[in-house]
Amino acid sequence: MKITIVGSGYVGLVTGACFSEVGIDVECVDVDRNKIENLNKGIIPIYEPGLGEMITRNMDKGRLRFTTNIAKAVKGCDVIFICVGTPPDEDGSADLKYVIQVARDCGKYMDDYTLVVTKSTVPVGTSLKVKSAIKEELKKRNISIEFDIASNPEFLKEGAAIEDFLKPDRIVVGADSTRAEELLRNLYKPFTLNGHPIIVMDVVSAEMTKYAANSMLATKISFINDIANLCEIVGADINNVRNGIGSDGRIGNKFIYPGIGYGGSCFPKDVQALIKTGKEYNYDLQVLKAVEAVNKKQKAVLYNKILNYFNGDLKDKTIAIWGLSFKPQTDDMREAPSLEIVNSLLKAGANVKAYDPVAINEAKHHFGDSISYYSDQYEALIDADCLAVLTEWSEFKIPNFKIVQKLLNSPVVFDGRNIYDKSEMLKMGFDYICIGINT
Ligand code: UGA
Repeated sequence: MKITIVGSGYVGLVTGACFSEVGIDVECVDVDRNKIENLNKGIIPIYEPGLGEMITRNMDKGRLRFTTNIAKAVKGCDVIFICVGTPPDEDGSADLKYVIQVARDCGKYMDDYTLVVTKSTVPVGTSLKVKSAIKEELKKRNISIEFDIASNPEFLKEGAAIEDFLKPDRIVVGADSTRAEELLRNLYKPFTLNGHPIIVMDVVSAEMTKYAANSMLATKISFINDIANLCEIVGADINNVRNGIGSDGRIGNKFIYPGIGYGGSCFPKDVQALIKTGKEYNYDLQVLKAVEAVNKKQKAVLYNKILNYFNGDLKDKTIAIWGLSFKPQTDDMREAPSLEIVNSLLKAGANVKAYDPVAINEAKHHFGDSISYYSDQYEALIDADCLAVLTEWSEFKIPNFKIVQKLLNSPVVFDGRNIYDKSEMLKMGFDYICIGINT
C-alpha cells in the first residue's frame, strides 16, 4: 500500500511518520519549499517529543519521503490524506480553501482508484464538497476514474501525539462505501491489533464527532474554571471540589483542572466553528457560547490577581514568568493565555522577564524585544517583584524554593496552574495566589 499525505504540518507529519513506522510507504507533500528542503535534511519544523527521531529513522529506511510535487505524489497512490490547515476566517468559520485545493489536485492527477480521506478538522458537510471538487476536475479531464471519500478525524494531543497515534483511545472512520471502509480498516490494522477500537460510521457523523469531542473537553474546562472562581468567593477549595467530583466515574478526574483558560490551535477554533455551524442551520448552541465567554474571562483572571495584589499599579513592577507555551511539551503559543497576560502586563507598564523550556523562539515572534528572555528559570527571577507560573512544565513543579525566595525582591508567587500546595507555600513564607482557592 502506498499513501500520500498532503500538508506537512503538525497532523500531517505525525500521521506520515507513524504510518511509515509500521512499514507503510509514505510520501508527504507540502507547498512550502523551504519546509520540504529542511525536512529532507532532517530538520523538523515543530517541537513534538519523539517525532524527529521517528522521521529520520523512516527516511533512512526509504519508506518516508518529502516532496513539493503533488502531481507525482497523487499518481499511483492508494490513499490520500488531506492534512492541510483550516485557519479561522474573520467570523470564526473554518477557511476551506486549502482543503478544496487539495481535492482539486486529487481530481487533476489521480490515475486509478483512489481513496481521498479528510483528516483536517473540517465543518460538517466538507467531505461532500471534497467529493464534488474531485468530480469536477475529473469531468474537466473528460475521464472517469473511480474514487471514494472518507472522513478520519484526528484526536492527537500536542506533546503526546506519537503516543496518541500509536495507541489511540479510538480511531473514527466515516466512510460512504465498503471499499473505503475496508481500505482504512487495513491501513489502521497495526494500530488496532492490541484492542484499540476503530469506530466506523457515516461521513457526516465522523465530521461531527471531532467537533463534539473538542467542544465537550472545552466545556469541562470552562465549567471547572467557573466553579473555581465561585470557590474563591464562597471560601471553598477547588482542589478538594475537583477531587470530590472527579471520583464519580461518570464525571471522571481527567480534564477538570482549573487554570487560566484553554488555548492552542484546536479548542478555541473548533468551539467557534461549531457555534458558527449551529448558526448556519439556525440552531443556537447556548452551552458552547457560554463556554467561549467563560474562557475569554478566564484568560484575564491571573492578570487581575496580579493587578489587585499590587493595588492597581504595575508601573515599573517586574514580573517573572515561567512558561509561555499554551501547555507543556510543546512550543506552540497559538491562543496561549500567556499572550494576553504578558500583553496586559506590558500595557500596564510592567517589565516582563520570561523563561520557557522550548517556546522562547516562538515567543520572540509575538513579543519581540518588549520582554526579556532567559535560558535559565532562576535567572528570570533576579530583581523581579513576583513570579507568575503560566504553564505547568514538569521542571517548575519542585523548584528550589529557597533560591526562588532569595532571588525575588519579595516572595510572591502567582500560580496559574495550581501546581503548588498552598499550605506548604504559606509555611515557607510565600504570598501565594492561585486559581479557585481563596488565599
Ligand atoms: C486537543 C484535544 O485534546 C485533542 O484530542 C485534539 O485532537 C486536538 O485538540 C485537536 O483538535 O487537534 P491540544 O489542543 O493539543 O489537543 O491540547 P489539550 O491537551 O487538549 O489542551 C487544550 C487546552 O486545555 C490547554 O490550554 C490546556 O492548558 C487546557 N486544559 C486542559 C485545562 O485548562 N485544564 C485541563 O484539565 C486540561
